[in-house]
Amino acid sequence: MKVTVCRRAHFNAAHRLYRKDWSFEKNDLIFGKCNNPNFHGHNYELIASVTGEIDPETGFVIDVKILKDLIKSEVEDALDHKNLNLEVPEFQDLNPTAENIAVVIYNKLKVKLDTKFDLEITLYETPRNFVKYSGD
Ligand code: NI
Repeated sequence: MKVTVCRRAHFNAAHRLYRKDWSFEKNDLIFGKCNNPNFHGHNYELIASVTGEIDPETGFVIDVKILKDLIKSEVEDALDHKNLNLEVPEFQDLNPTAENIAVVIYNKLKVKLDTKFDLEITLYETPRNFVKYSGD
């Protein structure tokens, strides 16, 4: 019997969407306002979903405290109130789109979780725009 345990978290971060190897004009054409050289911020909402078998002894799939602490150390401490382009090593040469942020968060959490779990990341960049990534 597989059940999914979800934990919601939040972080604020600034970014600029652009490619260093493109001209400003091309970046402007593709990324529009998101290419503002002075950066802009988002209130990101994260849902980390862990799927696995219920442990018959505890009744838990995963102790949600473990998930909470992992999100704190791997995501909130690393990304909250940061400029993603300038301060987060993963985005040194990776455009910090919602898609790429979701993949980075997935990779950071996945390596810390028991391999028996499936992980899915849902990341809201705005209340209406969100992405999902589960490792494929
Ligand atoms: Ni943006």
